Amino acid sequence: MFPVVSRHYAVFKKVNNVDKMTDHKEIMKDIVSLCKRRGFIFAASDIYGGINGFWDYGPLGVELKNNLRDRWWRDMVLCPPIGPDGAPISIVGVDSSIIQNPKCWEASGHVGGFNDPMVDCRESKKRYREDHLIIIVPKDEENDKGKNGQSLLDNGRTSFAFMVDQWDKTEEDAAAKKIEKYIKKAGDETLKNLRIGKLILKPFEGRVKPEHYKFVVGPDVNTKGTLTEPVQFNMMFHTYVGAASGDDNKAYLRPETCAGIFLNFKNVLDSSRVKAPFGIAQIGKAFRNEVTPRNFIFRSREFEQMELEWFCAEEDVPQWFDFWVDERTRFWESVGIPKSELHFLNVPKEELAHYSSRTIDVEYRFPFTAPDFGELEGIAHRGNFDLTQHAEFSGQKLEYFDQAENKRFVPHVIEPSTGLTRGVLALICQAYTVDKNRPSGVYLNFHPSMAPLKAAILPLTAKEEHVPIAQKLYLDLRHEFAVELDIKQNIGKRYARQDEIGTPYCFTVDNDTISDQTVTVRDRNTMAQERIHMDKVKDFLREKIVGK
Ligand code: GAP
Repeated sequence: MFPVVSRHYAVFKKVNNVDKMTDHKEIMKDIVSLCKRRGFIFAASDIYGGINGFWDYGPLGVELKNNLRDRWWRDMVLCPPIGPDGAPISIVGVDSSIIQNPKCWEASGHVGGFNDPMVDCRESKKRYREDHLIIIVPKDEENDKGKNGQSLLDNGRTSFAFMVDQWDKTEEDAAAKKIEKYIKKAGDETLKNLRIGKLILKPFEGRVKPEHYKFVVGPDVNTKGTLTEPVQFNMMFHTYVGAASGDDNKAYLRPETCAGIFLNFKNVLDSSRVKAPFGIAQIGKAFRNEVTPRNFIFRSREFEQMELEWFCAEEDVPQWFDFWVDERTRFWESVGIPKSELHFLNVPKEELAHYSSRTIDVEYRFPFTAPDFGELEGIAHRGNFDLTQHAEFSGQKLEYFDQAENKRFVPHVIEPSTGLTRGVLALICQAYTVDKNRPSGVYLNFHPSMAPLKAAILPLTAKEEHVPIAQKLYLDLRHEFAVELDIKQNIGKRYARQDEIGTPYCFTVDNDTISDQTVTVRDRNTMAQERIHMDKVKDFLREKIVGK
């Protein structure tokens, strides 16, 4: 085996005071399987073998997603934060069309520039995003010391491409095997003299020059030179509006929801009483023909976004930018993502989107990025790019008139933009807790306000005396809380199911209930049980769920 660069690659979870190290890939597999088994998330078109990059939300998944969506809407639009001056800020909502006039996407820069560089493999017929290909240029420890990968490639050194989001120990092992096999079989001139054990496998840093693809063995093949040079690929899905299907009728599915906000800027100003600074928010579907959808619902081709465009004067941008970073952090903490699992990336200048002069990515430690982080939300200063562009392309004035100062200006925009579906994935990953001391072996430790079900009502047995009382309790609670009445199976199995779907409380009706009208409350996290009077159940849930 070749010596490899060592990287940390495990996720660490503390469970019942037992430290458990588990391979992050295994954890992801378990999460995906639990999501399917318990009805959170299914592959779209499952019975037809699925369709890559599309997902359906099952009975529990849709509740979880709606809980996150409704909380965002409540915290942004219905009950927005208190501003730096002590008064609540002003935010209104819109729900715009997915298909807009195609000029919108010319103005926004998406028709010309929403591209990913793409590399095709002539042999495997697979397509890869160039910036997701990890290129390994094997170096000989002694002979190639100090030389970078590009100079080895300039010399025609055979290299290997792998498709991974994260270069880690498991990828290194797989790469080592592949290269070893290649050398033994093909005996490539530039490699065969190297003694096994002397190669250093290190991802090549930087971009591989297009002409060097001829030296590269692609991710899914064993011969070199099958990869094409990168070509630009526009990620917008298009369709034709009306009966004809020519260029004149071409329209696009929106790749981000914010455009519908900018397009309605004037309508909102003319029809409501907002005064700058103010925000317009929108939640809805967005579509991107991602070259490589990956990591479950993390990067999909159809997804949902929750976006706020905050319009303010240019000179106030620094103050509002910090305000939104703080508020959004508070939001994620309030739904159960601890700050310790978040990272704030000040996006380097060369990686900023064309419209942005400053962006902070709020990143979460997903199992497939651990110990590193993956983007959960972007908070961008978009300047006045969008309003200026849409004003130019539409010929309409998109300005704000400040009556107090008697002046017109084009507001600057700060945009906290998050993926609703990506947020759902973060909630599931955060909640997933391994616990060998319980029958399910695992439970979902959702924040009670996010849990799809707040409580389950369980008659201890299917006996006639227990069931009617449980039914009565269920009928009493369901107007206010998402609750479930579950009668079948032994009680241990029913607890196990509720643990796996993350229900914070189970109320069990037993023989004592008949005599003293008390039920047991079982706490999902501690498994501890206490008895409370049936009349107190509603208040108990109000305090535990609504109060938090
Ligand atoms: N309006 C700005 C904008 O759309 P973005 O960084 O491209 O910015 C914002 O997207 C958020 O949308 C991301 O932080 C992520 O949460 C989510 N998102 C983007 N592409 C996605 C995809 N293919 N699948 C799931 N979520 C995605």
